[in-house]
Amino acid sequence: MARVVVVSNRVAVPNRDGGARAGGLEVVLRSFLKRNQGVWFGWSGRTVPKGEEKVRQSEHAGVTYITADISRADFQEYYNGFANRMLWPILHYRLDLVEFSSRDMAGYLRVNEMFADRLLAFLKPDDVIWVHDYHFLPLAKALRDRGVQNKIGFFLHIPFPPPDLLTALPKHERTILSLCHYDLVGFQTDNDADNLADYLTNESRMPSRDRRTFIAGQRTMRIGVFPVGVEMAEFERLARRTNRLAFAREVLTSLADRSMIIGVDRLDYSKGIGMRMRAFEQFLADYPRWRGAVTYLQITPRSRSEIREYADIERRIDETVGRVNGHYGEASWTPIRYVNRPYSRSTLAGLYRASRAALVTPLRDGMNLVAKEYIAAQDPEDPGVLILSRFAGAAVECQAALLVNPYDQEAVAAAIDQALSMPLDERRARHRDVFNVLSENDVKFWGNRFIDALTCPEPAAASAPRAVAASPHLAAAE
Ligand code: G6P
Repeated sequence: MARVVVVSNRVAVPNRDGGARAGGLEVVLRSFLKRNQGVWFGWSGRTVPKGEEKVRQSEHAGVTYITADISRADFQEYYNGFANRMLWPILHYRLDLVEFSSRDMAGYLRVNEMFADRLLAFLKPDDVIWVHDYHFLPLAKALRDRGVQNKIGFFLHIPFPPPDLLTALPKHERTILSLCHYDLVGFQTDNDADNLADYLTNESRMPSRDRRTFIAGQRTMRIGVFPVGVEMAEFERLARRTNRLAFAREVLTSLADRSMIIGVDRLDYSKGIGMRMRAFEQFLADYPRWRGAVTYLQITPRSRSEIREYADIERRIDETVGRVNGHYGEASWTPIRYVNRPYSRSTLAGLYRASRAALVTPLRDGMNLVAKEYIAAQDPEDPGVLILSRFAGAAVECQAALLVNPYDQEAVAAAIDQALSMPLDERRARHRDVFNVLSENDVKFWGNRFIDALTCPEPAAASAPRAVAASPHLAAAE
């Protein structure tokens, strides 16, 4: 098999920062590269003065890591600017938070050109290049401009909205149409894939062979659906082991026999954390019998703190936690435990297993691996209940979870009550349904399915794996 060169903004170089970041991209790519030794190329995580940018190369367990520094000014425009104040909000359906600047857009395109130059030096003619996420929409174009003929695929980890929203992006053709330089563009859900197909068909009048195959000059670009998964069996083992460790026991002891509800999210407005806390507040108001009997642990590592919207959301969440705890708390009971520090995956696995329910209620999310890891971590004999936003990509496969509309606080409050009161038989049945679907789409298959579709000579009918069959419990779910 040809060498696979994976490109992403974040690169998890082993033994470097070791930090537990909550972003799903690194988790799945680490898992892919563990199995398919190749090259992982991207940003070094360092910003340096202009002219002092370095490229570093290292090898670990058969994987070659190549990382490039970015200058402070470039980082500001490319990452803090265009990627995270323009593309991130628009792709998460948040036009209200979009801040366009031509300068940031120019910086974004420039950094993509810079990455293309750096990568070029390492490419071999038969390498298969796999580019990830919204930081690098125009990377294939930059590589093609430099004469690269290799197969290049792209996978978007986050949502992709309908054309009405995309066209609000100033000069949208420049970024969106550059996707046509890839051979294959992959999404998390059919909905996302249909949105790009609609944009290309109706907005750009791009000629097509079928609904998901477009003709861009001499090139054919295919669209496919490849929902990312998690390592189900490994994560279950991790959860079983960690659950017995001192830290998990300490947390459980501190709860003094109360049930625990868990939420784990990067501090980001797309995650709906503030609204979720207000739903929990509503739950305490509407179902007073649970007061003093349940503790909600929200683990939220800070992220992108230099961006104003992130600082604003942090302040608002702090206020909500203070209000709920002040109003409902007692000397012996804190309703919401809110923690900003990151925890390792193994610690999280143990905490998931110890929680009676998980609240995963993003306002919009590409997939959401916390939802899948929560399911993986449960004891099948006595599993907890997943309360999941219908606007997370994971909802397609997790139909037997309690699916909720995160904007409807009363409904989320009712779902919390339902989860905490759910009989053991129903908990087992729902868990088994979701667990089986997620095991069929384990992350091991994800990367291989994408690379197979990218390299096969005939267009593969790339479509999503099956969703769970209608469950007898669904009627009660929403
Ligand atoms: C999401 C994105 C990733 C990103 C991660 C963490 O999962 O899809 O591309 O790496 O968040 O965000 P950060 O800005 O810290 O890289």
